[in-house]
Amino acid sequence: MTLPPLDPQDWEQYRALAHRMVDESLDYLRDVRDRPTWTPMPPPVRERLTSEPLPRSGVGDVAVYEEFLADIRPYPNGNIHPRFWGWVMGTGTPQAAMEDFLASVMNPNVGGFEQSPVLVERQVIKWCAELMGFPDTAGGILVSGGTLANDLCLAVARQKGAGFDVRAEGLQGGHPTLLVYGSTETHGWLKKGCELLGLGAAAFRRVPVLDDFTVNVAEMEAMIVADRAAGHRPICIVGTAGTVQTGATDDLEALADLAARQQLWFHVDGAFGSMAALSPDTAAQVKGQERADSIAFDLHKWGYLPFDVACVLVRHDADLVETFSAQGAYLSSEKRGVMAQSGVFFADRGVELTRSFKALKVWMRLRAIGTDTLGQHIARNVAQAHRLAALVQAHPELELLAPAPLNIVNLRYTAPGLDDTALDALNREILISLQEDGVAVPSGTVIRSRFAIRVAIANHRSNDADFDALVEAVVQRGRSLTVVR
Ligand SMILES: Cc1ncc(COP(=O)(O)O)c(C=O)c1O
Repeated sequence: MTLPPLDPQDWEQYRALAHRMVDESLDYLRDVRDRPTWTPMPPPVRERLTSEPLPRSGVGDVAVYEEFLADIRPYPNGNIHPRFWGWVMGTGTPQAAMEDFLASVMNPNVGGFEQSPVLVERQVIKWCAELMGFPDTAGGILVSGGTLANDLCLAVARQKGAGFDVRAEGLQGGHPTLLVYGSTETHGWLKKGCELLGLGAAAFRRVPVLDDFTVNVAEMEAMIVADRAAGHRPICIVGTAGTVQTGATDDLEALADLAARQQLWFHVDGAFGSMAALSPDTAAQVKGQERADSIAFDLHKWGYLPFDVACVLVRHDADLVETFSAQGAYLSSEKRGVMAQSGVFFADRGVELTRSFKALKVWMRLRAIGTDTLGQHIARNVAQAHRLAALVQAHPELELLAPAPLNIVNLRYTAPGLDDTALDALNREILISLQEDGVAVPSGTVIRSRFAIRVAIANHRSNDADFDALVEAVVQRGRSLTVVR
């Protein structure tokens, strides 16, 4: 019996379709500004995407591509658009998308062994370590996102700080309670990480912040001392370079000093903020992160690369291996042949064995454009945030709800006679209508109990006119909704 082939039956016919895909994708990216930032999904599309029966037999390559064009491509969140500033996402570039394609064509498993992709990732890790000011002893690994990158670093901190063989015993041996310290502004990964690693959510000791949303270092130290006195075992302090809510960066120098004084692991969550090190205009904000024991940061946010790719850096590569190595006989290496190790067995530096070639797009983009160019775009986003914050402060109907030191601006529309509860509802409505009308996509949050329109800029396609348009649209909606009330 001849099976239907999985590879193209007719390569020339498939080549035509592949060329069409490339051409139409490039047009789609080139013309992104001409489309609304977001387009609500029509009910029939939603219906098709949610209730299509299991396809026992296929429709073919052309038909399924047409389905993609009709039902899938038009309805993303909009993060590639110049006026998308929701949460903290990135934009990606056409070049990096093509480089992802090249990686998929090679389709290597970058767990380890003798192959160029392993060396490419090792090179990328070395470059990242240099960018972050880490020493030659550093090791690292690329993973899917900031959450997982932070989790891996926390696992290393637990391994180094537990005071017993946590890999062998787990947390079941009647040991002291292990505790981790971070500010109340720490991203949700930390709670999840504590849960995942068996420390329990209560192990995350939430330290209050100062008026500028940075951690109160003195209070952190007092909590550590008190916890020790109570018989618990502090293992790690977490500083954030660029908090998710406001872009505040903890005093990383002070945290490094504290970690040294208290002999604790110092981890920096720099999901986007660590990348500020790439520009001389912004590097001072994250000074001190080079003293950390570990840093986790995304390349799919302020590296402007397509999802998903983030970097784990640990000051001593050996600590990463101590935490994660787990070679079975079936993974044994030899001196020669494919089973020889090119120097880094990445499966021993993380939780995954089979790993994709995320490193290729990082390597090719850094080689193609250089890190200085990347730094210039980061600095431009920061300048845009500062300009937007100034516009907000200068406008009598707008209010800045938090300092905007980096790339995040929290604002709201205000009108005389409306109390905070009414303003919360009004600003929610303004935000949703901005999105539904396709004008722009900021997201929302709550800052000191007040609803904020949150503009997080990790977008190389935005220009000043986009932010002017946002201000105008917020004010215009605010006015018309206030009249309606
Ligand atoms: C400060 C901070 N830490 C961690 C994360 C989680 O990163 P990811 O979404 O890549 O998992 C984010 C995401 O926005 C973040 O802003």
